[in-house]
Amino acid sequence: MIRIAVLGAGRIGRIHAGNAAAIPNAKLVVVADPVPAAANALAERLGCEASTDCMAVLQRSDIDAVVIGTPTDTHIAFMLEAVARGKAVLCEKPIDLDMEKSLAAAREVERRNGRVMLAFNRRFDPTSQAFRQAIDAGDVGEVRQVIISSRDPGMPPRDYVEHSGGIFRDMVIHDLDMARWLLGEEPVEVMAMASRLVDSSLSELGDFDTVMVQLRTASGKQCHINCCREAVYGYDQRMEVSGSKGMLLQENLRPSTIRRWSKEATDVREPLLNFFLERYVDAYRNELQAFVDALNNGTPLPTSVDDGLKALRLAECALESARSGKAITV
Ligand SMILES: NC(=O)c1ccc[n+]([C@@H]2O[C@H](COP(=O)([O-])OP(=O)(O)OC[C@H]3O[C@@H](n4cnc5c(N)ncnc54)[C@H](O)[C@@H]3O)[C@@H](O)[C@H]2O)c1
Repeated sequence: MIRIAVLGAGRIGRIHAGNAAAIPNAKLVVVADPVPAAANALAERLGCEASTDCMAVLQRSDIDAVVIGTPTDTHIAFMLEAVARGKAVLCEKPIDLDMEKSLAAAREVERRNGRVMLAFNRRFDPTSQAFRQAIDAGDVGEVRQVIISSRDPGMPPRDYVEHSGGIFRDMVIHDLDMARWLLGEEPVEVMAMASRLVDSSLSELGDFDTVMVQLRTASGKQCHINCCREAVYGYDQRMEVSGSKGMLLQENLRPSTIRRWSKEATDVREPLLNFFLERYVDAYRNELQAFVDALNNGTPLPTSVDDGLKALRLAECALESARSGKAITV
């Protein structure tokens, strides 16, 4: 039984806490958030303790594992404290917004033999897992191209955007991780274009809302990622992997498979699932289960700090390419 503390009772913290309370072989002991109402409401709903002091929670001896779902600029401090106290960590992406700080944190985790998993939830989505299994089984032969379309239904709140580190580090980082995972080889070259087609005021933050990224690996495998902060038709998540023997295609999920025909229109389907909390509900649960299972079985964690560093590095290269108009060597 892994005794879990969840730090952060916001959008993602609520998901992780709900899963920690529900999955087998885990016990949600405490949720912590500096906003008392947020911590109390979540703790009351899930029947665990509430705290407003994340650091104090990390000192407790009755906690085995910590899920960090607090704002990005707090991740490293909590991660290193948890590791120093011998606790395993599931840390939300990205590790941090700064590469040097992230590298120093990774060195410290390694020095202490820390157990840290980066929360790249999409790897645990049933369709992504089926993709990976099909690739591993040789169904598409040698992978040649990966295409990822990833569009949010709408812009996040301004204060979130201001602290997000920009679209590449905040949003595209998920797709960059998927690209690495599906290509099976590290990208060595990155080219990106970025525009402000949704909110021109993002220029005040040096941020963008509409981007395309191209990656190339040493053997020449390619990936194309396109992301937009707004898709009026809903949360758009599609992937394609093609290779020497065939292709895999992931369509969007919908609440049901019903299709309607009438005088006005034919083959009308239900709207797409609303956003990441709905689309990746299984992925978040499977992710936490994989974390807990690895701790219980003493097996390696399925993702690492290094995965976080590599995705962050690709995000930084993409930003540099978008700003300079040049291809960037990773
Ligand atoms: N994997 C995913 O799909 C996914 C999705 C959303 C967010 N995230 C990541 O999760 C993290 C949190 O994002 P969110 O959308 O839940 O944000 P949020 O703003 O909804 O929630 C953050 C919570 O942290 C609390 N908080 C603020 N300052 C704090 C501090 N100094 N110490 C401790 N807690 C503090 C806030 O009170 C809030 O309840 C970010 O790093 C983000 O990148 C990941």
